[in-house]
Amino acid sequence: MSVWRVKPVSAFEADMKKSDLKRVLTKWGLTSLGIGAIIGGGIFTLTGIAAHDYAGPALALSFVIAGIGCLFASLCYAEFASVLPVEGSAYAYAYGTVGELFAWFIGWNLILEYMMGATTVAVAWSGYFVKLLHIFHIDFPIWLCNDLATATEKCAEMGIAAPSFAFNLPAFLITWVVTAILVKGIKEAASTNNIIVVVKIAVVLFVIVVGAFYINPENWKPFIPAEVPVLDDLGNPTGKVNFGFGGVLTAATIVFFAYIGFDAVSTQAGEAINPKKDVPFAIVASLVICTILYILVSLVLTGMVKYDQLDKAAPVASAFSGIGINWAVFIITLAATAGLTSVMLVMMLGQTRIFLGMAKDGLLPPFFKTLHQSFKTPHKSTLLVGLIISIVAALTPIDKVSEMCSMGTLLAFAMVCVAVMILRFKKPELERPYKTPAVYLIGTLGVLFNLFLMTQVRAATWVFFLIWGSLGIIVYFVYSKRNSNLQKPTQE
Ligand code: ALA
Repeated sequence: MSVWRVKPVSAFEADMKKSDLKRVLTKWGLTSLGIGAIIGGGIFTLTGIAAHDYAGPALALSFVIAGIGCLFASLCYAEFASVLPVEGSAYAYAYGTVGELFAWFIGWNLILEYMMGATTVAVAWSGYFVKLLHIFHIDFPIWLCNDLATATEKCAEMGIAAPSFAFNLPAFLITWVVTAILVKGIKEAASTNNIIVVVKIAVVLFVIVVGAFYINPENWKPFIPAEVPVLDDLGNPTGKVNFGFGGVLTAATIVFFAYIGFDAVSTQAGEAINPKKDVPFAIVASLVICTILYILVSLVLTGMVKYDQLDKAAPVASAFSGIGINWAVFIITLAATAGLTSVMLVMMLGQTRIFLGMAKDGLLPPFFKTLHQSFKTPHKSTLLVGLIISIVAALTPIDKVSEMCSMGTLLAFAMVCVAVMILRFKKPELERPYKTPAVYLIGTLGVLFNLFLMTQVRAATWVFFLIWGSLGIIVYFVYSKRNSNLQKPTQE
C-alpha cells in the first residue's frame, strides 16, 4: 500500500546535496543549540510545583528517572541523525524506515512539540519578564499579561473584579522578536543563542555553587515524604497521590518538559558543517550536560529551602530571596528571561525546519519551502509559525499548551525508538557513523518509558490529542498522499 512507501536513503542524500541552507554550525555550536533548547521553563519554573506538591527532596530522583528515559530516546535519535543527517528530525527518520503515513503522523505530532513548546515558553517568558519589571516597580495590568482564564483566577485570588478581556502582550511581542531574528538568519540566530546559553549556564552554575553553601541537610529529611492522597474540591479522594514513590513518578512526568529540546539539534542537520558526526555528538552531549545540571540544581534547591516552602512560580529566584541575597534574585530573573528567549529561538527554528523537510518531500505545500533570496531562510513559514504562536500564547493558559507539547514529544520519542530498531533490522548494512549501543534493549526501554509517561497525562489532553491526530490523518489523505514526491517521482 502506498501509505507505507519509504523514502530511499539515496533520496535523502540527494536532498542534502541540494540544500540551500548555509552550513555554519560546528560540533559545539550544535551542542550549544541543544542546551539553548533544553534549559528553560522546566528548571526555572516547573521544579517548584514538582517538589512542592509531588516529590519533595526526591525531586532529584524524578530528574534522574526522566533523564534516563530521555537518554534512551537520545541514543536512538543519535543513530538516526548519523544515518540521515537531514532537517526534519524524527519525521525524516520515520520516512526513511517505517513509511510515509507513519512519518507524516510523527511530523504532525512534532508540530505539537515545537509549536506548543515555543508557545509554553512564550507564556513562561511573559511571567519572568513581568517579574523583572516588577523589580523596577513597573507593573503590567493583569489583563495585559495573562490569558483570560489565568487573569480571572488571579483576580479571584486577589478579591478584585475579573476582566472581560485579557491578552498576554509580553508573550505576543517576544514571539515576534524571535520571529524577526529567525527570518534574518541562522548565523545571527546561532550567535545570539551562544551568548544566551553562556549566560544561562553561568546562572545555573551560580545557583549550584553559591546555593551549596546554604544547604541545610535537615531539609532533605525525609528524602521521599510519606504518600498523601489527593482530594478533590469536595474533599473526596481522587485516586492520585502526592509524594511517596507515586509522587516521584508524577514529578518525573512534570519535569520531563525540562528535557525537551535535545532532539531539536537533529532539526539543524541541514546547517551543520559535519552532520554525520557532530549531530549525534551534540544530541547526547547536550542532554547529559543538562541532566547533571538539573540533578545538582534540584538537590541545592531542596537543600536550601524546605520543599513545602518552595515557591511554585519562581522557585529558583525565590530560594535566594529567602536567604536574603536579593541581588541574586535580579540576576536569576534576568537570566531566566534571556534563557527562555533562547529556548523559543531553537523551538521555532526546529518547527520551520521540519516544515521545510516535509514540504521538500511534497507532503506540505511549496509555501513551506520557499527560501528568502538573500537570507536563505524559510521566511514565509517562519512568519506563519510566529503568527500562530503569538496568538495562541496571548490567549491560552500555560498548563494546556505544555501538556500538549509533552504529549506530542513523548509519541515522537517512542516512534523514533521503534523506527531505529526497524532500520537496524531491515538495513543492517547501512553505514552508521554512530550506533545506538544494545539497540533492541535501549529502543524497547525507550518505547516503554515514553508510552508510560503518556498514560500519566490528563484525560482532557488525550481528547485534544486524538482530535489533532484525526485531523492529521485527514490532511494526509486529502493533500499529502496525492502530492508526495514518491507519488510523482519526476516532480522534483
Ligand atoms: N526544555 C525546555 C524548557 O524547559 C522546553 O523550557
